[in-house]
Order: sequence, then C-alpha cells, then structure tokens
Amino acid sequence: MGTKPWGGRFDRETAPEVERFTASVSFDRRLFEHDIRGSVAHVRMLARCGIIPRADARRLRAGLERVRREIAAGRFRPGPEHEDIHMAVEARLREIVGPAADRLHAARSRNDQVALDLRLYVRGEIAAIRALIRRLQRRLLAAARRARGVVIPGFTHLQHGQPVLAAHHLLAYVEMLDRDADRFRGCGERADVLPLGAGALAGTSLPIDRAYVARLLGFRAVAPNSIDAVSDRDFVIEFLAAAALAGVHLSRMAEEIVLWASREFSLIRVDLSYCTGSSLMPQKANPDPAELVRGKCGRLCGALVAALTMMKGLPLAYNRDMQEDKEPLFDAADTLRACLSIMAGLWDHVAFRADRAAAALRGDGSQATDLAEHLVGRGVPFREAHRAVGRLVARAARAGKALEDLTLAELRAASPRFGPDALRLLDHGETVRRKRSRGGTSPAEVSRAVRSWSRRLGARDA
Ligand code: ARG
Repeated sequence: MGTKPWGGRFDRETAPEVERFTASVSFDRRLFEHDIRGSVAHVRMLARCGIIPRADARRLRAGLERVRREIAAGRFRPGPEHEDIHMAVEARLREIVGPAADRLHAARSRNDQVALDLRLYVRGEIAAIRALIRRLQRRLLAAARRARGVVIPGFTHLQHGQPVLAAHHLLAYVEMLDRDADRFRGCGERADVLPLGAGALAGTSLPIDRAYVARLLGFRAVAPNSIDAVSDRDFVIEFLAAAALAGVHLSRMAEEIVLWASREFSLIRVDLSYCTGSSLMPQKANPDPAELVRGKCGRLCGALVAALTMMKGLPLAYNRDMQEDKEPLFDAADTLRACLSIMAGLWDHVAFRADRAAAALRGDGSQATDLAEHLVGRGVPFREAHRAVGRLVARAARAGKALEDLTLAELRAASPRFGPDALRLLDHGETVRRKRSRGGTSPAEVSRAVRSWSRRLGARDA
C-alpha cells in the first residue's frame, strides 16, 4: 500500500470511485508553476535552516525545475492516480531524484501549500486583469474622443431624460472600471501574505524561517496565524466579488451596445468584423460578442455565490470542501479576461451615428428641465417652474408641436417669467453646453475629464 504519500496508515487500496471523486488534478494542474515555485523556495529555506542536507536541496531544486519543464512541454502529464497537482509533482520528483524527494515535504502540508499556490495564482491574475481593465479604459477614452460633439439622448427608465454627450456616457464606464481595478488592487494587497509554514494548521516544531520564504516569493508579510492561514479563502471570495462586479459593469455596457445597435435605437453602428450572422436569415448581422459578454456575467456572479456558499459554515481549519474553490476561481478569471479583452476590441469598432441621435432627440421634450432651470434663474421657485413647464409640455403635446417649435409668446403663456433667451434652450445642443456643473455633460467639463483620464491612463496601450 505504499503508492500514496499518506499510504502508511492504510492496509487497503482506495476505492477507484473515491479516487476519481476526490481527484482535483484535472483542474489544479494549472497551478503547477506556482506549486513548483513554492517548493523551490521551501527547499531553499529547509537547507538554509539545516533541516535538510544542502546536497539534497540541490538535487531537489534541479529535479523540481525538470518537473516544471516536463509538465510545461506535456512530457509529464499528471493524472487522476496522483490525486492533485501537489502529489503529482512530488511523485514525478521522486522518480527523477530518488529518495531525496522524501525530504521535500518536511514542515509543510498540502493545506498551506495549496493556500500558497492559490495566492500566487490570484496575484498573477490580478496583475493581468488590471492591465486589461486599463486597456479597456483607454479604448473607451479613444471612442470618447472620436465621439466628440455627438449628442445622444440620456435615459432614465429607458425614456429620454436629458441630452448628453456620447463621450460623457462612455466616460461613466471609465469611472466604473477604475473602481473595479482598485477593488482588485485592494484584494491583491490583502492576499499578499505568505501562508506557507502554517503546516496542516498548527505550525511546526522544526526550526523554519518563514520570513525568508516570504522574501524569496515576494510576499510583504507572513500570515500571522497558522489556523487562519490554511482556513480562509477570503482572498478568493474578494477576487470573485471584484470579478462579478466588473462583470456587471461589462454586462450593462454590452447591453447598451446591443440596444443602441438595434434598428429602433440606431445610435451606433458595430463594424461587421465584430458581428456574426444567422444561419437562416441572410440579412442578419448580430452583435454577438456583446451579447455573450452580457450573458457571461451570469457565470461570474455564479462563481461568487458558489464560493461563498462553499465556505459558509465550514469549521476551522482546512476542509476538503475548499478544493471546490478552484474551478469557480479559474473560470471567473478566464471569463473576465476574455470579456475585458473583447470589449476593448469592440469599442474600436463602434461608431456613433450623430444624425440618428439628432433625429431621436427631435421632438422628445428633453429640453424641459432646462426651461424650468431658466425660470429658477429668474427667481421662480423650482416646484412652481416645474409645474409651469409641465403645463407647457402638455399644451404642446395636445397641439402636436415639438418644444423646439414653440414661440416666445407660447412660452410666456405658460409663465410670464420666461425671458427672450429661453428660446435658445429649445436647442438640445445648447442645453448640453449649459451643464457646466462639476462632473456635468458640458463639452468643457467632458474635455476636462478626457484630459484628466489621458494623463492618468497614458496615451498608449500597455
Ligand atoms: N487538493 C486539495 C485542495 O485543493 C489540496 C489540499 C488537500 N489537503 C488534504 N488534507 N486533503 O484543497
């Protein structure tokens, strides 16, 4: 019964069904680089602290490097007989270096080992995702520059509210993405502690040096409590929460692309290279990439709920349930990366249709708020101004007239306080120009925002 590292206590083979059911190697195999990197640091520490002979440490390090190359090249394929990637690496190492391999796992458990691997993985994913978020922000910024001067309807309740600059709308997403990037940064900061050295849960009686391992692996600190170090997956959950929220932002963005590209809205054109067709209807060109981004948000939210539910109620310290953290984590990271990347490409292939936007604004009454504010500027209390303009809108509707066709006399019939300059407010573009409040949609404010984002994001893609 000597084939498994833990086989000493067992007098019979594991049932094949149990082996299949408990194996994680099919998915945790992708942690192999991190696993080996952690093992190399561990070996260096063991030798330095006199826990293993230096000659064995040298053999182990060379052997681990070879296992890494073999897995990377597909020459060694970890299979279900190895249970997980940690045992697979060790098994192959034993074949390569012989009995010295038996020294590797001193002062270590798979519990602190897997916690380490995951932290290293999350660290790498956070760096990659933050770079992709920056790239998408830059593409949005470029799209905002191209849309300079385009006025579109601004919606509330999906009804025309007030006209806005298309660029202003796009910059709203740049802001959201910035908070997303910051959430990932915060998660990375808290995940940046070394769990290794916690052992199974209690620490070890061997004279290890955790600070040295932390330095080798680039962690800012060692986890202060061995039980916490192997028990918690809050860094995974934070990552998934940040991913889910970024996914929600992308999904809203995607929905607007789908909606705006529709014949009814016609606010944008999506280049054919970013559309796919129908197998039946020859005329179709559908914005499928955007639809898929919208749909994939479900997986991101699902991954978060799966991890939260899996952790809930687990007694300390490690439980095998926690093996279930990996598939949602990997899937969420892959999914979010793909969505960020396609959205960046998509914005380079979207053009606003200024003429259609102008046509959509005609007669929509969305200058009404500006008329009320005009009255407020002339001393009328806002509620009274609101009522007066409401009456004006109702009267125009009954007469089948657009606000832009009203005369000063008609305005004054609703409120004698309308000044002659009120007529200028019937132009949608003029209402946009007047939103000079900080963060408003005036061209002056939006240009300021564009300049400020250009400085922060840099001109080129990283
Ligand atoms: N494959 C396991 C996981 O992903 C590694 C840790 C197993 N530890 C144990 N004591 N069975 O969580």
